[in-house]
Amino acid sequence: MTQKIAILPGDGIGPEIVAEAVKVMNFLNNEGTLKLEMEHAPVGGAGYDAAGEPLPAATLKLAKQADAILLGAVGGPKYDTLPREKRPEKGLLGLRSELTLFSNLRPAILYPQLAEASSLKHDLVAGLDIMIVRELTGGIYFGKPRAIEQRNGERYGYNTMCYGESEIERIARSAFEIAMKRNKKLCSVDKANVLEVSELWRDVVTRVAKDYPAVQLSHMYVDNAAMQLVKWPKQFDVMVTENMFGDILSDAAAMLTGSIGMLPSASLDANGKGMYEPIHGSAPDIAGKGIANPLATILSVAMMLRYSLNQESAARRIEAAVGIVLDKGLRTPDIMSEGCKKIGTAEMGDAVVKALQN
Ligand code: IPM
Ligand code: MG
Repeated sequence: MTQKIAILPGDGIGPEIVAEAVKVMNFLNNEGTLKLEMEHAPVGGAGYDAAGEPLPAATLKLAKQADAILLGAVGGPKYDTLPREKRPEKGLLGLRSELTLFSNLRPAILYPQLAEASSLKHDLVAGLDIMIVRELTGGIYFGKPRAIEQRNGERYGYNTMCYGESEIERIARSAFEIAMKRNKKLCSVDKANVLEVSELWRDVVTRVAKDYPAVQLSHMYVDNAAMQLVKWPKQFDVMVTENMFGDILSDAAAMLTGSIGMLPSASLDANGKGMYEPIHGSAPDIAGKGIANPLATILSVAMMLRYSLNQESAARRIEAAVGIVLDKGLRTPDIMSEGCKKIGTAEMGDAVVKALQN
């Protein structure tokens, strides 16, 4: 059965890294392992350039029809002065909300070959494997009212952090299910000492926990969670949190591994349909230079095969191939260390394909 993949390269290094992921998918197609039909469409700044909108109607239609979506990255300085509605980020947020991709899985895994890249002491991060489950379609990112407006002769800006019980319940279930497949430890992060919305969050997560008695649930305030992530990250297995807290904590967790260029992510709806993208951004400063690390995008393909396309063995093969390439000492500049061989984006993609061949 053919599976349809929407390929949305986006901006900055997006097109370069996605091209390498497409190489990997083409290889698995040609080999007969997969039957992926890929169709490209512009999003973000590229969408604005092509159609005057960060999420062109045709791109949204393709994304809705596809079995899964692979996204590169969006954003760039060229678009920073556009009105908010036209900015590249709107394209990404639009895809998340239009497709109800409420469950964002952001793994922070330390590759043993890259242990030196972390700024933390080796024994603090060796073997690190955390999964952050970030709520992605609610909270302050989407809450209303929101505006900048005039009041008493000065401007006021405001946003609203709000969650309904059903929104909290579905992300909590998603996190408990993932915890069940891992070490059965879930930490829910909130700010319940100050915010009513967090009080409700904690209440609902605690209620859902009754359906998962095997999972050890803990609660932590977000400020403490930020501190604990840096102090003793291995205390965590799965973390679940609201949209903005998850945005911030997942960057911190990613940096624990020292190599944000290695980390993929999945954004899933209730049926397992998903959008897959590297955690790092569009890195406009290195765009077009052929030096970006394509491994996070290639690993995003592995996640896509696992979570949306039911192709676990192909997913594992890709992950193993990335391991082989790292074992060989091949490195893009962002993960370069002494004694290794520095290579570019395309060479890295080729190396992964070669590792798949053997
Ligand atoms: C992320 C990014 C996005 C977010 C931006 C680009 C809108 O930081 O995916 O973490 O804030 O969610
Ligand atoms: Mg972010």
